[in-house]
Amino acid sequence: MCGIVGYLGSSQAAPVLLSSLRALEYRGYDSAGVAIIENGRLAVLKAAGKLANLESLLESKNPQATVGIGHTRWATHGVPNDQNAHPHMDCSGTLAIVHNGIIENYQALRQELMENGHTLSSDTDTEVVAHLIEDEFRTTGDLLAAIRGAVGRLKGAYALGVVSQQLPEKLYAVNHHYSLAVGLSDQASYLASDSVAVCQYTNRILRLEQSEIAEITASDVKLYSFDGQAVSRTPVMVDSNPFVIDKQGYKHFLLKEIHEQPLIMRQTLGKYLKHPEKPVDFSAANGSGHHCDDTSYGVSLTADDFKKIDRILIVACGTAYHAGLVGKYILEELCGIPVEVEIASEMRGRKLLVTGNTLTIAVSQSGETADTLAAITEAAARGSMTLGITNRPDSHLALVTPNLIVTECGIEVSVAATKTFVAQCACFYLLALHMADALKTVTPERSRDLKAKLLAVPALMEQILAREDTIRLKSLRHAEAHDMVFVGRGLNYPIALEGALKLKELSYIHASGYAAGELKHGPIAVLDHLVPVITVIVPGAVYEKTLSNAQEARARNAQMIAVAVDGDEQARKTFDTILSIPPVEEFFSPLLTVIPLQLLSYFIADYLGKDVDQPRNLAKSVTVE
Ligand code: G6P
Repeated sequence: MCGIVGYLGSSQAAPVLLSSLRALEYRGYDSAGVAIIENGRLAVLKAAGKLANLESLLESKNPQATVGIGHTRWATHGVPNDQNAHPHMDCSGTLAIVHNGIIENYQALRQELMENGHTLSSDTDTEVVAHLIEDEFRTTGDLLAAIRGAVGRLKGAYALGVVSQQLPEKLYAVNHHYSLAVGLSDQASYLASDSVAVCQYTNRILRLEQSEIAEITASDVKLYSFDGQAVSRTPVMVDSNPFVIDKQGYKHFLLKEIHEQPLIMRQTLGKYLKHPEKPVDFSAANGSGHHCDDTSYGVSLTADDFKKIDRILIVACGTAYHAGLVGKYILEELCGIPVEVEIASEMRGRKLLVTGNTLTIAVSQSGETADTLAAITEAAARGSMTLGITNRPDSHLALVTPNLIVTECGIEVSVAATKTFVAQCACFYLLALHMADALKTVTPERSRDLKAKLLAVPALMEQILAREDTIRLKSLRHAEAHDMVFVGRGLNYPIALEGALKLKELSYIHASGYAAGELKHGPIAVLDHLVPVITVIVPGAVYEKTLSNAQEARARNAQMIAVAVDGDEQARKTFDTILSIPPVEEFFSPLLTVIPLQLLSYFIADYLGKDVDQPRNLAKSVTVE
């Protein structure tokens, strides 16, 4: 997590740093700060809380500088206060660094530095790096060599930005298992953790690869490996149309993004599936041209590769994990291949049982989630075929797998994922149809029928969104709840999990999702008349059993809510409140049932006055393990 930015040029640095940080605020908003060289002297300005606090500070101080680095923080080591905010300085106050990642051996280094007379003033793991560079610089007088010396002592994965008043015409950046991009224009150079921040200024981008140091001037960038070898790489031109980050009249980005879902589905489905009669096309030729994208991507796995697959392993975190669970049901149903879904962080420190016949699929909106990247990288190292599903073709994920399916969501600003979830699910439907056609595990007629039904989903989504006012009124009846339970079976079990996650993230109300059949094995003990139980139920293979599970909750006087289809008379008799959706085949229902739950969480959170787009303690892109 955390976002790093930098600027070196002839314009005022502070507005550029601020604007770049704004584009990276999704990476954390516990604090923000800049380090600039003003009149030959290093100045650090930082403030706990949202970027707006730094903005006010910069307005009042009005610093005059043309070089600087900046940071937006998601706290890992040390509480989110001014002191722990980045940038951090060395003892002399002439060098400052910003950092993304974790320095795993910081405690030993800190101890050593303090024994050697350094004064450290924060609780962060970051600060040691500034002091290590200071020591090395004192010895060598060469900042590049000093940085190399310091990183040689660090353990962990990290990205760094470094500025020193000794060399005000240069910035340094270090990338070790993270992402960093340098933007180059005629008059200036830009640095950012995500090219989104740089693309607003230039479309000439140079990405740092693993274990590289960049020496940046206003007109040039030189790359070095950690062992000091010069690295040659040509910048690439990317499509740099500025991202439209606008609420378009909606009160929050989240509500806007919920409403965008029919469009997103049309875009994502339409990109890979033009017509029910046509095959799904994931080829590279069909896959390029994404915004701010310099990569061409696609799926190069062939029918012969698919025939070899005896197991699929899906790895992901958070909402993407729930999309992976939906993917499991779809792939198993259509392709007849066993699928396991793992929380990516649970893959660490454990024997990864993959073979050359395993397909490992990583799902990640950002393509930067450290745990997900680690899991797919390890699977690839053990010979597994790999595939990524992401919204960011320019992300780290694209570098670690040769097969990439891109969701066409545009930027998702709200920290809680909504539109990317349905788009990830859409990609699983497409992938399963693509594989099933190749493996001939579905008949051409069934394939055609499924494709037609999939393409009809966006119109059904629109019908749900048209019921927003009713959903709001019904949701607010439960806004004072302290706990909520979400249940579903089969394809809608992941939706129960996602419903509970969304409610927690947005409203801070405690919520849990369960497989409906598990309710009686423990969770039922928490039920009483104060606890709303939300059942996701649609006609199909598990309808009756889900209804029975709901009756068990009803018998305990729970408040009974359902997401159910129009005209479901049995549901009407069982539940007090129904958030209705249009009739839909069970197989496609997750794409619809999730929407009333997103809206329920949104309306309750907004009613409670929560920070809907930037919930406390969260970050959109989680780049630490
Ligand atoms: C964070 C976000 C979640 C997201 C998860 C995985 O926790 O707050 O909304 O689902 O990371 O992110 P990814 O980018 O890998 O999908």
